[in-house]
Order: sequence, then structure tokens, then C-alpha cells
Amino acid sequence: MSQQEQWRSKIGFVLAAAGSAIGLGAIWKFPYVAGTGGGGAFLLLFLVFTLVLGMPLLLGEFMIGRKSQSDPTQAYGKLASNKKWNFIGKIGVFTSFILLSFYSVVGGWILLYIVQILSGGLSGLTQDQYGELFGEMISNPYSTVAAQLAFMLITIFVVSKGIQKGIELASKVMMPALLVLFLIIVIRSLSLDGALEGVKFLLVPDFSKLTSESILFALGQAFFTLSLGVSVMLTYASYLPKTQNLPQSAISIIILNIVIALLAGLAIFPGVFSFGIEPNAGPVLIFSVLPAVFEHMPFGMLFFLAFLLLFLFAAFTSAFSMIEIIVAAVTKNDSSKRKKSTWFIGISIFIVGVPSCLSYGVLADVQLFNKTIFDLMDFAVSNILMPLGALLIAIFVSRIISKEELFAELKQGSNVGYVFFSFCYFLLKYVVPIAIIVVFLDAAGLSAWILTFF
Ligand code: PFF
Repeated sequence: MSQQEQWRSKIGFVLAAAGSAIGLGAIWKFPYVAGTGGGGAFLLLFLVFTLVLGMPLLLGEFMIGRKSQSDPTQAYGKLASNKKWNFIGKIGVFTSFILLSFYSVVGGWILLYIVQILSGGLSGLTQDQYGELFGEMISNPYSTVAAQLAFMLITIFVVSKGIQKGIELASKVMMPALLVLFLIIVIRSLSLDGALEGVKFLLVPDFSKLTSESILFALGQAFFTLSLGVSVMLTYASYLPKTQNLPQSAISIIILNIVIALLAGLAIFPGVFSFGIEPNAGPVLIFSVLPAVFEHMPFGMLFFLAFLLLFLFAAFTSAFSMIEIIVAAVTKNDSSKRKKSTWFIGISIFIVGVPSCLSYGVLADVQLFNKTIFDLMDFAVSNILMPLGALLIAIFVSRIISKEELFAELKQGSNVGYVFFSFCYFLLKYVVPIAIIVVFLDAAGLSAWILTFF
């Protein structure tokens, strides 16, 4: 077996892990779930869940990854000295496969919108017309599948180059570009008449707007945006030397993720309020509302194009991490197998994703439990597989590995205090599992039933 690859620089790892975290979750999903779930109060909950639950889980994945220096299908067994624990990583690999199969569909939509703008077919419409156009666009079986394939081909190409040349370099360029472009768009948005209403909606909490559903959404959102429970963060940390400061890296990633979600909100809500659009427009919010928002600005379409490009970058850096964990599991870090494996895995993911892609058009009527194929895949991943993975990881870290061993691992490369460590350990052992079980109960439709007792 060849030598395990390693990240080239400390910042390279942080950017790649932040790139995995920041994607459709922070930019596309966050504004619409915040818009539907109560604005400021939702944001506050999301922040609390990110810090209280996301932070210890992220550290947990980092510790297992770096300590084991193994891919997710071997890491758990190695640390527990019992191979049966590897099933946690295997579930993660499966989850990642399904996740990328429908994530690439949305990635394809972004590509299509970019093509629409470049061909001049996206300007001068009302917000409703943008909504209609978007609906028509995603129901076309040929162009959407072609766009999904294009998204997958680019992902395969970059990841087949390996973690240093591919993922690390791409993230190093994409992440700073993302921040800068976002700042420009936010400044534009904030200069609109009536922008303050949107800022207030996002930043001033009104707890009367919270429902039990929005609380659970905030929890799911915190896991999804930090790529937790899939062993993706574990895999990235397995390429780390012992000199990396894990707590500092985790905090940087969490702060970057929060900043991007905030910027996404600040880019969107001022426009939404300025033009009298409903903040709870749902998943189409970005695709139907933003072009209308940009329409009213000088050089609007140019800004929208810039926005879509950075949105696409963010989706790519998340997609890279999803396929990377599968490649790591298949190649077992033998870099001579990387290229072939990446192509084989990537094309398989594309094929599995085609029905999800078509479920917005020709397969719209194929439904199970009242859900389209796309929604079923999303439901299986976001509401079942990811929380299950996170629950298992929390149990594994806090109950299978000894506390001393964990602290010794965390201390390498950092001078983290025992009090901070013990606090995270406590959260992982008790708070995280209880919170996740609540998500599960919701997925099973039981939370409303349980709440009737209180
Ligand atoms: N964090 C990514 C996003 O917010 O778009 C999604 C994601 C990536 C989830 C990788 C899980 C994962 F393993």
C-alpha cells in the first residue's frame, strides 16, 4: 500500500473542510428554511445548535480521523480494536453516495441557470415569471440530466487528481473568492430601499414565530451544513499530521460556515423585503427571487452571474468531499487506484441520480409516501441517515474510546484545556444523543404526538 496522502498546509485543510461544510446547505437551504421557520429566532437556534451540538461532533470526527489515519470503513474498527464498529463508516459511505446522487441534480440546476444568463435568456422578467421559467427549466429531462452529468464530470475530474492537487488547491482559490463576492453582493443588497426590514427579519428574533417543526429544522440544518454524521470530516482529518490544531480548525470552520450563512441571509432578505416578496417562498427562493432582486439593480445580471458562480463553487467543494470519502473507502489510500475508482464511483452516482433529476419532470408522478424520488432521497439522507450517523459517532467517541485517549489526541498540536475538552465530552455523551433522538421522533412523525403530553 502506498503512503497515505497528506494535506500540504494547515490552512489547506481548514479551507477544504470549510468547503465541504459550505454549500447548498448554507447558501440555498439556510435562507429558505430561515424564511419559513421564523427569521431571527431560527437563526439564533441554528447558532446554538451549531455551537452546542455541531462543535463537539466536528471535533469528534476530527479526533477519530486523525488518530486512526484510516478511511471511514477501517477507522472505527482500528480504534475500538473490533472491526464490527466499522459499520458506522460504511453507513457514511452509503449516505454520501445517495447524497451526491441528488446534490448533483441541484448542482446541475445552477449550471443551467448560468447558461441561461450567458445566452441572454434571463432578464426583464417579473418574479413570478422567473419562478415559472425555473419550473420549466428543471422539468426538461434532457438539459437537466446533461447538466447533472456535467456537474459530476467536473467533480470526478478534480477529485481524481488527489487531495493535494485537486481539492486543496481548488478550495484555496474558491473559498476566499466566495467570501469577497458575497460581501460585494451584500453591500448591493443593503443599499436597496427598505433593506432594513430584511435585516431586522433575519437578525431580530421573534420567538412567537417558532414552531416545534422549525426547531427541528434548525437542528437538521446545523448537521447538514457542517457535513456531520457521514464521516466526511473524519476522512479529511485522516490526511492530517499530528501538528494540526484541531480545536482551532473546528472553530475556524464553524465561524466561516456561520459567516457564509449570515451573508446568504443578508444578501437575500433585504431584497425580499424591499420588493415585497414573501420570505417563505421555499426552495425556489434563490432561483426565483434573486434574479428579480438583481433585476432592479444596475449591472444586476452581472451580479447574479457572480452570485451563481460562487454558489456553484460552494456546491463543488461540498461534492468533492462526498465523493472523496467513497474513493478513500474503495482505494484504502492506495493512490495508484484513485483515478479509475473516482471515475467508476462518479459515473455510478450519476446513474443512480438520474431518477431524482427526472422527478421534477417526466417522473413527477412516481411517488412513494407522497414524496417524489428526489424528496425521498433527501428525506432518507437528511432525516434518517445523517442523524443516525451523527448519533452513532457521538456514542462511539464518548463511550467506546477512553476519555484519556481522546484528550491525548486533542492535545497534540494544540494547548486545549481540560475544562473545554470535558465540556465537549459531556455534550457528546448526553446532549447530542438526546437532541438527535428528538429529530428521529420527528422524522417518524412522533414528536407532535409526544408534545401533546406537555
Ligand atoms: N455541508 C454541505 C452543504 O451544506 O451543502 C452538505 C454536505 C456535504 C453534507 C458533505 C454532508 C456531507 F457529508
